[in-house]
Amino acid sequence: MNPSPLADLDEWEDDLLRRYPESENEEAFRDYDAEARPSVKEFYRLNHRYQTLDFVCSKRDEYLPLKKRQMTVWEALEYLNTLVDDSDPDIDLPQIEHLLQTAEAIRRDGHPRWFILTGLIHDLGKILCLFGEPQWAVVGDTFPVGCQFSEKIVYHPFFDDNPDTQVADYSTPNGIYEEGCGLDSVTMSWGHDEYLYHVVKDKLPEPALYMIRYHSFYPAHKEGEYDHLMNDHDREMFAWVRAFNPYDLYTKSSERVDVEDLRPFYDDLINEFLPGMLAW
Ligand SMILES: [Fe+2]
Repeated sequence: MNPSPLADLDEWEDDLLRRYPESENEEAFRDYDAEARPSVKEFYRLNHRYQTLDFVCSKRDEYLPLKKRQMTVWEALEYLNTLVDDSDPDIDLPQIEHLLQTAEAIRRDGHPRWFILTGLIHDLGKILCLFGEPQWAVVGDTFPVGCQFSEKIVYHPFFDDNPDTQVADYSTPNGIYEEGCGLDSVTMSWGHDEYLYHVVKDKLPEPALYMIRYHSFYPAHKEGEYDHLMNDHDREMFAWVRAFNPYDLYTKSSERVDVEDLRPFYDDLINEFLPGMLAW
């Protein structure tokens, strides 16, 4: 078994663009290409097989004490940039440039400073890969564990191989949760969203925290699933998650970004909300 079927983490995001194209027109154009690449399919096979409630609990115990490293936000950006991939370096920009493209698009649209900062940092949790985590435990659409897997989750049939599917308590719509309990009480599959949320959770406005924590929760913010586990506050905050999504999906381009040129603005922004060392 190859635990890293994707050429790089961007391959999952390229596939999101295929599933959620920017315009309807594009969808028609892309019809011929309706199947995901084999590497993406294999990636979801592993993700759906191994993301069990037990697995998530063990990763939360391992990472959420935040005892791995102390780094500033900029150090974390540079660390993420060392994530080398097997794909063509002429086509793929370093992660730092992708994140700056996202942040700059938010800035151009006149959004608040915390929103711009969220664009810059939202994928920093991908450093989990550098800590040795397999791709299927870092990226991919996220979903609750400990309850029924929504049929709208991409490649749902692969959940047949997930041992939790055989556990009666986890196989009802609410599973181990109370109806309407709120997402904060729900354990999500493990990945870069939840991890970064815990790194910054006391330091950013709540809408930013929702964007960070649930930006890969496509079954909810794109497909409308899991409403029965949400409370009214989640529903209100998901307007922000949806507002963020186009910046995440549609702002990355192959155009180079002048990192040094933008650095003073982003240093100020980081110092305003997330100064100094953070615990990772
Ligand atoms: Fe992400």
